[in-house]
Parts: sequence; C-alpha cells; structure tokens
Amino acid sequence: MSWDKHFADRTAQMKRSTVREILKLTVKPEVISFAGGLPAPELFPVERIQEATDIVLAERGREALQYSTSEGMPELRAWIAQRMSRGSFQISPDNILILSGSQQAIDLVGRVLLNERDRVIVENPTYVGMLSAWKPYDIDFSAVPTDADGMIVDEMQPLLDEGGHKLLYSIPSFQNPQGTTMSRARRQRLADLIVQYDLPMYEDDPYGELYYTDEKMPSVLEVEAARRGTTSMDDCMVMYAGTFSKTLTPGLRVGWIAAAYPVIDKMVQAKQGTDLHTSTLSQFITYELVRDGTFLDDHVASLRDVYRRRRDLMLQTMDEYFPPEVTWTRPTGGLFTMVTMPEHLDAVEVLKRALEQNVAFVPCDGFFIGDTGHNTFRLNYSNAREERIVEGIKRLGGVLKELLVIA
Ligand SMILES: Cc1ncc(COP(=O)(O)O)c(C=O)c1O
Repeated sequence: MSWDKHFADRTAQMKRSTVREILKLTVKPEVISFAGGLPAPELFPVERIQEATDIVLAERGREALQYSTSEGMPELRAWIAQRMSRGSFQISPDNILILSGSQQAIDLVGRVLLNERDRVIVENPTYVGMLSAWKPYDIDFSAVPTDADGMIVDEMQPLLDEGGHKLLYSIPSFQNPQGTTMSRARRQRLADLIVQYDLPMYEDDPYGELYYTDEKMPSVLEVEAARRGTTSMDDCMVMYAGTFSKTLTPGLRVGWIAAAYPVIDKMVQAKQGTDLHTSTLSQFITYELVRDGTFLDDHVASLRDVYRRRRDLMLQTMDEYFPPEVTWTRPTGGLFTMVTMPEHLDAVEVLKRALEQNVAFVPCDGFFIGDTGHNTFRLNYSNAREERIVEGIKRLGGVLKELLVIA
C-alpha cells in the first residue's frame, strides 16, 4: 500500500538526510566522531541534577508532575528576564516564553510569522535545523555571504531595498556550521538596518555563553535596544532565542524566546496546539539548578575551559597535519570549525573515505542556500576527548593528503 498520495504537499520538502543515514554508522565506539553538535557528556552535572530533582520532588513534587501554563514556569521566566536585562533595558517575564528546546522557537516563529513562499534573509551557510523547519512553507531564502567576521551585513542592503522580505534569521555568535562570530561593528550596522527597515530578526543564540575570549559580545537585541534608546522589549524587532542545552544539558529540552509581547502571545497560542507546555518537571529542575546563579556560572566557566583547550588542540593539530590546499575557520567560541577543501573534492565522498579510517564529520552542503558548499565540512571539538581529537585529525589529514595527491 502506498501512503504517498495521502501525505500533505508540504511533506515534499521534508527529507531524511542521506548524510544522517551514513552517520548512523558512527555510533560504533571505534569511530572518532567530530560529527554531532554534542556537548561533552562527561561534563554533564549529573550529581547536581540528581540533587535538584530530589529537592524538586520533595518540596514541590505534586506541582512539578502536573500540567502547567503554556507560557512556562513563572519563576524561570522571571530568572531569564532578569539575566537578559541590561541597565535601563529591563525585560519583563511577559516577554519570555519557555520552550521545549530552542528548536521549538524556530518552529513556532515559522508558524506565526511565515506565509507560504515568503522571503527570508539568511547568512550563507546557515543552520540546517532552521532550513528543515521552514522549507515546508516553500520559503524563498535570500542568501547573504559571510566571512571571518560573520554575515557581511552591508550585502543585505540591496535585498532590503528590493523589499518584500519578511524576516532575517541569523546566528551571530559562534555560528553553526562555521563557528564564526559577527563583529561588533557589523552588529551596530545590522541594528541600524533593523531600525531603518522595520525588519524583524530572529537571533538564534545557543552558543553565546561559550566564548573563549575575555569578553562576551553584546547580543544584536541589546545593540538594537541601545540604538533605539528603549527600556522595553516591546519596542524591539529582534526576537532572541536561548537555550540551556549547551550550558546545562540538551536532554532537559528547555529553551526560551524573548520577544515583543504580541509575538509571545501568538506563539503561546501556537504552542498550545503543539505540546500544551514544556515539561513541567524539566522546568522545575532547570530552575532549581540555576536559581542561585553561582552554580550555572561556575559550570559554564569550566565548560569554557575544557572546550577552549579542545578547540586549541584541534586547530593546532589541523595546522600540523592538514594539507595546505585546505582552509578552516578559527572560532573564538562555540563548538565547531568549518573546513573548505578545493572545489574538486566532495565532502560526502571524503566522509566515506574517512569512515574507512573510523573518523566522522558532517558534510555541509545541506547548510548552504543554492548549489554550493559541496567541498565543505563541519568538525565538532566539544564532544571528543583530547587524545581522540589528535588521533582523529591526524587520520583525517592523511585522507585529505591522499585524495589531493590522487586528484
Ligand atoms: C543554531 C542552532 N539553533 C538551535 C538549536 C537547537 O537547540 P535546542 O533545541 O537544543 O535548544 C541548535 C542545536 O544544535 C543550533 O545549532
């Protein structure tokens, strides 16, 4: 029996990725995988989460196991609002919606803002999880090129002058897949354009806390608020999505969006039709973990130390063992670097060869708008232990050298 004729038209845009199928092979313990965007499991605060769970169940067990409001746990919303507020720019808990991971923010923003065939501006390459969520709306994506300083914001101007764009989606800090970060000057320029053109922006920021330099970049939201001189989120066009996935653990599935109240209100309605609310128990545990602030800050500081070391080690080993024809980004935070090979090499073919050596990565063509990117791939450095990083990069360097000699 064929189900094809029964499926909705929009499912034509939903595809199981062939690369994911190949990467299923990487669960074997002998494979050194740089493929997933995974945090280091050995750093998950398992004991602290156990303690927090015990406290929640002992003190508020009946509430934590009950249905709850779609907006999310009031104390957690207030905590996030407070943490995101800067000086006179005070975010109200009413501007925060708790979500089942920040991926849900992408889905719900799509539902409440996008019509079929709308035009959306994105940096190129961009997050493949956003593309899968929004492609079913048959979106016309306008690609803005990027360099070491992130999206080349000035290249957006002609698109904005053309008109007809509904939204801008960007990951300004430690982008997925490139690991690059939009410079301060570009954030300023972007905020100017948002104000000038009344352009809604989705600022996706799962990695912002994982900076390996001395200071954290201001979010585009903060820059926009300062540019407008406003004290209220309700005056802002940036919708900011955050998550506890990379700072605590992705298994809790707790993220959030901060946005002007009318957007939150519509998203709450959309969320009610999706999952009613984010897991009450996960929210209570998350709040118990973060409420005093110091545990989270200390934990994230130790994540930064480990991930910074792993990034340094990966980049140094690449410098030593990768052939000169290949280039890669130098991230100042986050989890990834992206490698660009000469045009004639195809990352899917290179992956097959690398898997013969028990090394895995993610080919990036699926992250690109248009027919480019076949010669690029993403390496994750947070999930592999130091000795495996060195061994994996050496083997990958060998595969690349071999393929370049043959070609
Ligand atoms: C750019 C980007 N946005 C959103 C997400 C979704 O994260 P989560 O749903 O775990 O918060 C990810 C996950 O890796 C990501 O890389």
